Amino acid sequence: MQNTSSKALTYAEVLQELNGLMTGRWLTDLANMSALLFQHIPDINWVGFYLTDDTKKNLWLGPFQGQPACTMIPFSKGVCGTAATEKKSMLVLDVDLFPGHIVCDSSSRSEVVVPLIVSENVIGVLDVDSATRARFTKQDQSFFESAVQILLEKNNF
Ligand code: SME
Repeated sequence: MQNTSSKALTYAEVLQELNGLMTGRWLTDLANMSALLFQHIPDINWVGFYLTDDTKKNLWLGPFQGQPACTMIPFSKGVCGTAATEKKSMLVLDVDLFPGHIVCDSSSRSEVVVPLIVSENVIGVLDVDSATRARFTKQDQSFFESAVQILLEKNNF
């Protein structure tokens, strides 16, 4: 088990790598960011993006790593929809206790969702799942928020 400070160091390195990997091409960066996080973040079973459609009421599956997942999530549903509607990141320690949680991979037990916010509009979300209950801490949540910030900045949003 890693202690807090060694985990912070590792996360700093991942952010540095992400910074170098981003090209400013949106789809390319979403794909590579999913792969980088899946490779380096321990104990996760799914990581990827859902992107807002033109109606601004639905999220559609984008680049990801893990099992094939639900293709569309309304803003009104699930952890992803809640993050999109409330425009704030969500840390869910036990998905079974989250009303309306959407089961894509039945092995998922905890989850972090970070909205991608550009000029006050939610253009999508980053979703990260783990098969371990309470896998994520506030530190993990901050890390994923920082990663999203790098993605958006590198794409000139
Ligand atoms: N659990 C999410 C749905 C997406 S999958 O986990 C990949 C939710 O409740 O919004």
